[in-house]
Amino acid sequence: MQLFIFDDYESLSHRAADEIISLVKQKPNAVLCLAAGNTPVLTYKYLVQKARDENIDFSNCVFIGLDEWVGIPPENEGSCAWFLRKNIFNNLNFLPSRIHLFDALAVDLHTECNAMDRVIFYAGGIDLMVVGIGMNGHIGFNEPGTSFDLYSHISQLDATTRLVGQKYFKEQTSLGLGLTLGLKHLLESKKVVLLANGRSKADIIQKALLGEINPAVPASIIRRHTESIIMIDKEVASHLKQKDN
Ligand code: PGA
Repeated sequence: MQLFIFDDYESLSHRAADEIISLVKQKPNAVLCLAAGNTPVLTYKYLVQKARDENIDFSNCVFIGLDEWVGIPPENEGSCAWFLRKNIFNNLNFLPSRIHLFDALAVDLHTECNAMDRVIFYAGGIDLMVVGIGMNGHIGFNEPGTSFDLYSHISQLDATTRLVGQKYFKEQTSLGLGLTLGLKHLLESKKVVLLANGRSKADIIQKALLGEINPAVPASIIRRHTESIIMIDKEVASHLKQKDN
């Protein structure tokens, strides 16, 4: 695990975008899992700019969705699908046939999870995951207490996720279940980049990086991954140091 501390959100986002760009240059058919959420918005903006400047081709890449809110259709602005379309797919030339997202409206959610696992398996595994961290320490919808041994699964969203998740929606939305890749996918991916910025994430990052490696704080699993990079800004880091002393 490597930890990088940046002066600000902008420099963190530049560095995260560079990670994605350099992988795709090296491996044009990379399997990418790029999370939705507020944290990576600027990373994806810079990714799009850099990809245009350097003429990077994403048409051979495979895109794997990290998670989705069950029951929320892709045309709802709060859905992960909507976010990914707006921030990534509308701006980079991923082929629709190589984009694999959970169908939040699937009748059989177990089958949906198994199908995602098969896609990842046959794609040869994930090369790079870029993820955020929830206020409760979740990655994707791997909520506190979730086994590190799971692949894709249906997640019972915890109270924090249901509450914090309202920020993505225009109106109050009932959230109950999620579909998510599992932490086993994260452990097996060739590289993971975890991003966190802003004071509100300081406490949970401190727990994830300095506390026990334990499903109670799902993001603590990042320390088990030899090719993981944590990118945080100074606001997150200063809290880390205070707590550390
Ligand atoms: P955020 O979400 O980037 O919107 O803070 C992170 C997460 O819940 O995983």
